[in-house]
Amino acid sequence: MMFFHLLALVLTYCSYAYGDCPSGAIQGNNPDECYIVVDTATTWQTAEESCQALGGHLTSIVNAYQNSFLLSKINVILSRYYYAWIGANTLTYPGTWTWTDNSSWIYSNWASGYPYGSNNLCGAMGTTSGRWYSFNCANDIHPYVCGVVVTNKDKVYNFSMTAI
Ligand SMILES: *[C@@H]1O[C@H](CO)[C@@H](O)[C@H](O)[C@H]1NC(C)=O
Ligand SMILES: *[C@@H]1O[C@H](CO)[C@@H](O)[C@H](O)[C@H]1NC(C)=O
Repeated sequence: MMFFHLLALVLTYCSYAYGDCPSGAIQGNNPDECYIVVDTATTWQTAEESCQALGGHLTSIVNAYQNSFLLSKINVILSRYYYAWIGANTLTYPGTWTWTDNSSWIYSNWASGYPYGSNNLCGAMGTTSGRWYSFNCANDIHPYVCGVVVTNKDKVYNFSMTAI
């Protein structure tokens, strides 16, 4: 009987462990992470506007684990490109790198020598290295990665522990 109680708890936990990502989005490592990888090269601003239309922003990246996860996806999905836009930019606060979704700037993974260039104010991730590069926001075009909001977010946090 004890076994079935434990099994029920495990199943309950699993079924509520994640919220739902919107249709077409990739579930990240964490319950509240969903991504949409867009295989169309465009300017950074157009990419950010497109992500907003999809219910998010160009993705932020706040730790190495998340960076590795995204690399593993863009390495496959965007294999015909060298770079993918992310939400890093110094457009909003000149001289200071921030994320369009307002996440704290607590991690970075710049390639050696980057960011560089007074006209390269937007960030992109290398699709094979996972390193970040600065590019011209308005003149360079790359595909991009949106971070979009989890739907049914309640499901993420409500672990039912009802006994049977
Ligand atoms: C980020 O913060 C700024 C300043 O507080 C605010 O105007 C903006 O709407 C915020 N953006 C998001 C995506 O929360
Ligand atoms: C989850 O918990 C929140 C806050 O307690 C509540 O408002 C919401 O209705 C719950 N959702 C479900 C699916 O039980």
